[in-house]
Amino acid sequence: MLRTHTCGDLRRTHVGQTVTLCGWVDKYRDHRGIVFIDLRDRYGKTQIKFNLSDDSDIQKTAWDLRYEDVVQVTGEVVERPADMTNPKLATGEIELRAKDLVVLNKSKTPPFEPEGQSLPNEELRLKYRFIDLRRPELQKAMIMRHKLTKATRDYFDSLGFLEVETPILGRSTPEGARDYLVPSRVHQGSFYALPQSPQLYKQLLMVGGLDRYVQIARCFRDEDLRADRQPEFTQIDVEMAFITREDLLQVIDGLVAAMTKAMRGIDIKLPLPRYTYNDVMERFGSDKPDLRFGMELVDIKDVAEKCEFGVFKQTIANGGRVRGINAKGAADKYSRRILDNDMKNLVADYGAKGIAYFKVTGGKLDSSIAKFFTEEQQQAIIAKLNGEEGDLLLFVADTNKVTSAALSALRSRLGRELQLYDPAEINVAWVLDFPLVTWNADENRWDAEHHPFCSVVPEDEQYFDTDPGRVRASSYDLICNGYEAASGSIRIHDPVMQQKVFDLLKINAEEAEKRFGFLLEALRYGAPPHGGIALGLDRWVMLYAGYDNIRDVIAFPKTQKASDLLTGAPSEVDTRQLRDLHIAISERK
Ligand code: AMO
Ligand code: AMP
Repeated sequence: MLRTHTCGDLRRTHVGQTVTLCGWVDKYRDHRGIVFIDLRDRYGKTQIKFNLSDDSDIQKTAWDLRYEDVVQVTGEVVERPADMTNPKLATGEIELRAKDLVVLNKSKTPPFEPEGQSLPNEELRLKYRFIDLRRPELQKAMIMRHKLTKATRDYFDSLGFLEVETPILGRSTPEGARDYLVPSRVHQGSFYALPQSPQLYKQLLMVGGLDRYVQIARCFRDEDLRADRQPEFTQIDVEMAFITREDLLQVIDGLVAAMTKAMRGIDIKLPLPRYTYNDVMERFGSDKPDLRFGMELVDIKDVAEKCEFGVFKQTIANGGRVRGINAKGAADKYSRRILDNDMKNLVADYGAKGIAYFKVTGGKLDSSIAKFFTEEQQQAIIAKLNGEEGDLLLFVADTNKVTSAALSALRSRLGRELQLYDPAEINVAWVLDFPLVTWNADENRWDAEHHPFCSVVPEDEQYFDTDPGRVRASSYDLICNGYEAASGSIRIHDPVMQQKVFDLLKINAEEAEKRFGFLLEALRYGAPPHGGIALGLDRWVMLYAGYDNIRDVIAFPKTQKASDLLTGAPSEVDTRQLRDLHIAISERK
């Protein structure tokens, strides 16, 4: 080894020892002939002192040191004078008095300093990711990622699960995004699809008798990217045979407890709270509400239909809804200008035409539209929303869907701005019984809400032909702090039922056979009842780390436009490669 200790190791107990450290030059100070550097590696920082009168060779080399040079320093550990200790550094009580210095590699002037005062823009950080990775925040994320996968593997191993790898070059699995395709050289004109998830393979593993499967699986989806979405991401993918939904929920409850213990050192209370989809949609307007705070949606139909405010009255008359939320004590926190512009624009993004708001003042409603409500109606509104002096009540009148989406967005913003929760809290809950299908108005057909392999809640089978929108799937999501953190279902294991769902999705028998024939065939050869789930690993690390972008927990992430600024992928390839693949590029935009 080129070092005896790391830059985070040395304490007062090492005083008097001669040690060798290796690392990057983090800070450089010259105090009247004495050069100090902070030497950094992933374990910490140690102050090195070059007393320049000691040795003229070292003196000259030390003077030439610059940010991010890589050096090896040998010296004696000495105690710092009492007034020179640094309580912010774990090694702050000592320093290394250098006796020998080897420059292992000079660095060009770095485009930014990993621990500089201000963070450079993300583009520069991604281009020089190898420098960015030296930042403590990214190192913390990589360490947490490692801990999370280790805790996961240990947990599943203790329950007898087998980790099985499934193909990357495979057939397309419908998870709702576009596939990344890989052309085959051998089979001209044919393509592999990179897996959007191992969904079908893990079901086949169940048919294959490997009844407890887990995989830390890479998934690829060509979809619009956001702060919580990458084109290439990782799932903790799980499937089990001979189970009920209850069994699966309990196993995953245990996983969340093990993960939280490993990441945060705390014991969370089990079982995790359970909500139904209908319940969260009604109470929070979202299928992944942030449950760190309340502010539930309240329906005021009976007041709205009788009042004189045209927008409300008309909406109810047209079969719509009027719903609102109470921002406690926020009456003076938002100006008219913000409410009429910012907030209105926010709800407009979700299709709402406006926002009606009242301040609770002197036991009454204060608003430009208060005159449209009788004293009695005002009291009824205040009572329904538990209004108190100084509260701000906000309402949206529209369809069920629009009021849900608009108020949910408003609720998230208000919760954040009014600091209604502890940002460090990890709040995990189950959402159960999603609809099996949702109506796709653009294409005039039903789409699978999750994917086409979810089984149906038995008592809802009766609505299959008459009212498909009412049929609930035996599915479940884990939500955490407003994010969808996992998703799964009990699967269909009967080929006849599977075809019935395909029929509903307008995937006819011929097409089903073509796309999923191998699965249907497997279901005909003794498929056990089975079900599973996949957790978005990157999202969990992001949540545990307290970050708000999954790019910060991925070593080499892609930009919003799915490019890798470090390596330049995707890139053009040479014509020979294209010729081998029998591919011609017709035009470039
Ligand atoms: P689903 O498509 O819901 O289900 O994915 C499971 C979980 O993976 C995470 N996730 C993502 N994370 C980062 N970037 C993305 N682009 C991305 N897409 C999804 C989310 C999500 O909850 N095969 C099914 C699982 C099953 O039924 O067992 C599936 O993939 O946290
Ligand atoms: P208007 O009559 O359009 O000037 O609207 C009067 C008030 O009602 C304004 O504060 C609007 O923002 C609000 N408003 C308009 N449409 C809606 C709606 N669909 N839901 C709630 N409030 C609305």
